[in-house]
Amino acid sequence: MQVIDLRSDTVTKPSEAMRKAMFDAEVGDDIYKEDPTVNKLEEYAANLLGKEAALFVPSGTMGNQLCLNVLTQPHDEVICDIDSHIFHYESGSPAALSGIQIYPVIGKNGIFDAEQVEPVIRPTSAYYMARTKVIEIENTHNRAGGTIWSVDKIEALSNLAKKYNLHFHLDGARIWNASVASGLTVSDYTKYFGTVSCCLSKGLGAPIGSIIAGSKEFITEAYRKRKAWGGGMRQVGVIAAAGLYALKNNIERLTDDHENAHVLAKSLNEFENVDIDLESVQTNIVSFKPLNKSPEQIIAECKENGLLIGAGNVGYLRAVTHMDVNTDNINSAVEIFKKILG
Ligand SMILES: Cc1ncc(COP(=O)(O)O)c(C=O)c1O
Repeated sequence: MQVIDLRSDTVTKPSEAMRKAMFDAEVGDDIYKEDPTVNKLEEYAANLLGKEAALFVPSGTMGNQLCLNVLTQPHDEVICDIDSHIFHYESGSPAALSGIQIYPVIGKNGIFDAEQVEPVIRPTSAYYMARTKVIEIENTHNRAGGTIWSVDKIEALSNLAKKYNLHFHLDGARIWNASVASGLTVSDYTKYFGTVSCCLSKGLGAPIGSIIAGSKEFITEAYRKRKAWGGGMRQVGVIAAAGLYALKNNIERLTDDHENAHVLAKSLNEFENVDIDLESVQTNIVSFKPLNKSPEQIIAECKENGLLIGAGNVGYLRAVTHMDVNTDNINSAVEIFKKILG
């Protein structure tokens, strides 16, 4: 039985061309900054993200946590959306690795306003409170279903961060999807942030790797911390080559994934036993609520029929499109959903 895997855009396997780039990569010891392919990737990414410098890290989680660690001291606080990745899916690392806490605000589809943030910034005179140090947002927003932030809302938060002397961090694991779907460049978004983390291993199809970017001073400190956390890598150009290939070849094609997600969402919307907000389907993640059975039951029944999907927000299911599923696969997935949810 053919299996259609819509659990995540992380399940993609490197293409032949990507593997060839990996095979051909020039390498050196990256801990000495002597890996030419890593150096090329970091320079290319810094340029694309409009930042002075960039650092290759093993995962998006390490990227976000390194950024938070460098930007804060123990007892500090980070304001972010209640459904954000750093709050739900990074193993409590802000507390465990940096001694900081999260102040979650309640966004709509993962997106919140500067007006919600200003009242919860801690007064600097309140010595008994945690110190607000960072505002963090996620674009696109994973748990909310791949939603995109408007530049207006980002700019308002950026101005607020400046007003209160706070850092502004972007979890841009899927910033490429936001850029392709909106028609804005990646740096049209990233220019508002002091620090950015983004992933090569999701929709872009690389097997491993993320990038963090910011000022030279920030990256110098993050480089030191990455080593301290055991994330220093040696002849890692073989992997960086996949990331470089992904950035150069796999961004524009994300429109195909978005198109497939829209086709899937529209079909699901016609089924009696599905609650779906079509407005929230803006990129490659389709988040929907089953009305006839529990999410676990639906996941199990889909699996029996050769379709893999995952759990999303509480009570929700998640189907994610990516480069290893085509339109025929999506049509087959719709048929399976019809049997189970129609
Ligand atoms: C928005 C967001 N940030 C960060 C991450 C973490 O990436 P990784 O799985 O590489 O640690 C993910 C992973 O799904 C994500 O969706």
